[in-house]
Amino acid sequence: MQQKRFALLAFFVGAIAISIALSYLISPQASYVFSSGHRQDSSALAVVSPVEFPENYRQQFMHYATVDCPNSRIVRQMYVNRDGLEAIATTETIPSGTAIVMETYSANQNGEGRLTSTHLNNIFIREKRTDWNTDPDRDPDRGEWQSAWYSPSGTLVSTQQSSCVSCHTMVRDRDFTFTRPALITAAKTGQLQRQSTEFGTSVCR
Ligand code: HEC
Repeated sequence: MQQKRFALLAFFVGAIAISIALSYLISPQASYVFSSGHRQDSSALAVVSPVEFPENYRQQFMHYATVDCPNSRIVRQMYVNRDGLEAIATTETIPSGTAIVMETYSANQNGEGRLTSTHLNNIFIREKRTDWNTDPDRDPDRGEWQSAWYSPSGTLVSTQQSSCVSCHTMVRDRDFTFTRPALITAAKTGQLQRQSTEFGTSVCR
């Protein structure tokens, strides 16, 4: 009898421990984003984004820009998928289906002010699709873009759109893409563009 009770108690303690562990596994920032743009907090384990993590982007995408942020010692590396490169080069517009990956690195600065990357912190992705803008209630500040924030290992950190949109809407006239000029030059020349940020220190992290 005593033994049975002990087994029952151990079972309950174990169940509580597992549920606490699971609740920590679910990221507090994780959320579902529906095409209507409404957010709901996630209550399930699988958090999804329509913007997928492209596993081999370093091999398969074009590395089109390196943007230094000397004042905050951050270096950003930008990659674009190859499907739309020809259209970007010839028409100077970013076609539906374009995905841009941006890595942000901490960096050291040498005596001449040159930055050397030390640590990869975040992977930010933005993808453009015409059929993401068919909902009449959709926020016009988003354009046809969806954003996702991944960790360096490719785990989804956040699907929240509003923080990304609040900045990227500043460059609405560049199709919401800060480095659009560098992207067009790189698509035309095949050359990686290296530049310092045009947008001050507060936007670099
Ligand atoms: C505080 C402003 C700010 C916020 C918030 C922000 N970005 Fe950006 N983002 C920038 C700037 C500025 C650049 C261009 C790099 C530079 O000049 O430093 C950029 C560049 C990018 C690029 C490369 C393409 C481009 O537009 O040049 C991607 C991809 C990107 N951001 C994704 C995201 C995602 C995803 C989020 C939200 C998780 C986000 N950004 C939030 C300011 C911001």
